[in-house]
Amino acid sequence: MKIIKKIISCVFLFHFSLSVYAIDWSKAEAKQMTLFYPGQASWEWLLTKSDHGGAKNFRKGKGCRECHQGEEKEMGNLIVSGKKLESDPIAGKRGYVDVKVKTAYDDSHFYIQLAWEESGHAVSHKMAKDQSKVTILFDDGHVKGVTRAGCWAACHDDATHMRSAPHDKNISIYLSKSRSKLTRKGGGENYKSAAELDKLLAGGYFAEYWQAKLNKGQTVKTVDAYILDKRHENKSPQVTAVAELKNGLWTVELSRKLSPNIPHYKDIVAGKVYSFGIAIHDEYTPGRHHHVSFLHTFSLDQGKTDFIAVKQ
Ligand code: HEC
Repeated sequence: MKIIKKIISCVFLFHFSLSVYAIDWSKAEAKQMTLFYPGQASWEWLLTKSDHGGAKNFRKGKGCRECHQGEEKEMGNLIVSGKKLESDPIAGKRGYVDVKVKTAYDDSHFYIQLAWEESGHAVSHKMAKDQSKVTILFDDGHVKGVTRAGCWAACHDDATHMRSAPHDKNISIYLSKSRSKLTRKGGGENYKSAAELDKLLAGGYFAEYWQAKLNKGQTVKTVDAYILDKRHENKSPQVTAVAELKNGLWTVELSRKLSPNIPHYKDIVAGKVYSFGIAIHDEYTPGRHHHVSFLHTFSLDQGKTDFIAVKQ
């Protein structure tokens, strides 16, 4: 029996040593998320009754997926065509991307794996440096906007290339609470004082942002940041990533320590619900020209969340 166990563990070790991933992903359950092209659908647009059919009930507490689950493909195709919410359509761009998502954790790290097909679209005009990027925005229950709407909590009408973007300035993604005043056009430069922002941060009021930059034949680069009044890139990223492109399929594993114990990183612990959204930039597109998911949730071990990360 002992010998058999040894042989099995040897085969296992050999198997692991071949994999580029830290986790045996065959043990984790995959779920599909459909990311759609959102055009200029900002936080302020969502909340405005004359713009968004769901504004009234969203304000009352209904979630995006309660009304829109299963409509992602249609919504993306409509918006990417330029018929709604898009003033500057990109010819030939797809309206949605199906992504297979898995989560897991071990003694020290949390892991998320995402897999999706490249568009296969030949790009003649490269608008961004990177061929593709995958980004995760998440919160641990501190930021109500993120727990209600995922990425939309950070997407405002005056951000770069959005409808109310100022001509002379670039405003990045931010959370409403960082501003003293918010109008239909966003919060502009109505920043709260540094002391007020510090207090929010100290209380855990920020969203975490993980990004992997993907280029064919090159090692993946990662960026992580926290979002409050803008996107603040962390000087030494804690997030690492491994990525492969095989037969047109990108497979990316992002991970970081469960508890980095560094300011501006959230602890990932059992018993909490984490809200997140995913964005993919493909075909060398920048800024808002991406595909975005509705809000999803994850937790460790158990819970009523979309994803349950199981320990390995
Ligand atoms: C109470 C239901 C409801 C909720 C909640 C809701 N919506 Fe909507 N949404 C609608 C309706 C109705 C329309 C208009 C559809 C139409 O004109 O055919 C719409 C339209 C949209 C559109 C434009 C695309 C289209 O098909 O017209 C986007 C983008 C959108 N919603 C995003 C969201 C997001 C993001 C959330 C959550 C933050 C959300 N919605 C919450 C009902 C809802």
